[in-house]
Amino acid sequence: MDPSDILLTDRVAIVTGAGQGIGEGIARGFARFGARVVVADKNAETGERTAAAIRESGGDALSIPTDVREFEQVKAMVDQTVKHFGRLDILVNNVGGVRYASFLDLGQKGWGTHTRLNFDGLFGPTDAAVRAMIAGGRGGVVLNVASIEALRAAPMFSVYAACKAGMVNFTRSLALELADHGIRVNAIAPDIVDTPHLQAFEGSATGGSREARERGVPLRRAGTIEDCANACIFLASAMASYVTGVTLSVDGGTFASSGWTRNPDGSWGLFH
Ligand SMILES: NC(=O)c1ccc[n+]([C@@H]2O[C@H](COP(=O)([O-])OP(=O)(O)OC[C@H]3O[C@@H](n4cnc5c(N)ncnc54)[C@H](O)[C@@H]3O)[C@@H](O)[C@H]2O)c1
Repeated sequence: MDPSDILLTDRVAIVTGAGQGIGEGIARGFARFGARVVVADKNAETGERTAAAIRESGGDALSIPTDVREFEQVKAMVDQTVKHFGRLDILVNNVGGVRYASFLDLGQKGWGTHTRLNFDGLFGPTDAAVRAMIAGGRGGVVLNVASIEALRAAPMFSVYAACKAGMVNFTRSLALELADHGIRVNAIAPDIVDTPHLQAFEGSATGGSREARERGVPLRRAGTIEDCANACIFLASAMASYVTGVTLSVDGGTFASSGWTRNPDGSWGLFH
């Protein structure tokens, strides 16, 4: 083992939804550790903004506007990646979405929107990227951005929670299927992370205050996009070469606290 094993030098990574938020943090973090990055966001403007920021700081990045729900677009994006950079080593499935609503209020249209984004947007990029990794013959890494809601009950987020739980077991199952190809498959499970998506949620009537939400986090703060990037850099690197099929909680200890919450005076309690 060498400290340089944490570097991603010359590796080529696709990060979906990297125009802002957690995906942007992962793309920028990967680039800082030496990877060449493809920003695959459906928003061409924010995707190019992330890619340009990486290039301005001396890295190498290409924005390929892609809607991850559209398999033809996804396959074309992976083909372009391999053509441009000559290889593909890492895929981060970061795109995912949630709407705060009861299951019955969501209805068929609502659950269809969730499964299309969270499942089609996961399976399509994985299929196309894994085929390219196998063709490359150098192994690879797939990383999935799940959520703490995959691991605990999430009232008013039931379909999102089901999709993210599905992502976690897809991670385990695919890890076994792809082990013989030298492709590792892992996930991260963040709790609240300060992103434009979270800010919009907090601005809504149902979001609750930041102070109240942070009080429930044992490490007493929301996660940052850098916290998520750090975990992904480790999982993508040779430092994690014996790690596959796991979901790493990046949540300040929230999942471990399982029902214990902090009182306003700083003490811990249950059932309040
Ligand atoms: N922010 C949190 O608190 C939090 C917590 C746990 C898990 N997550 C998960 O992290 C991931 C990213 O969340 P975020 O908060 O950074 O989101 P965000 O809304 O801030 O950013 C999402 C990005 O994905 C892009 N995108 C949306 N639909 C797309 C599509 N169909 N094709 C391609 N790009 C698309 C958007 O343009 C945007 O740039 C999601 O899977 C989310 O479920 C977020």
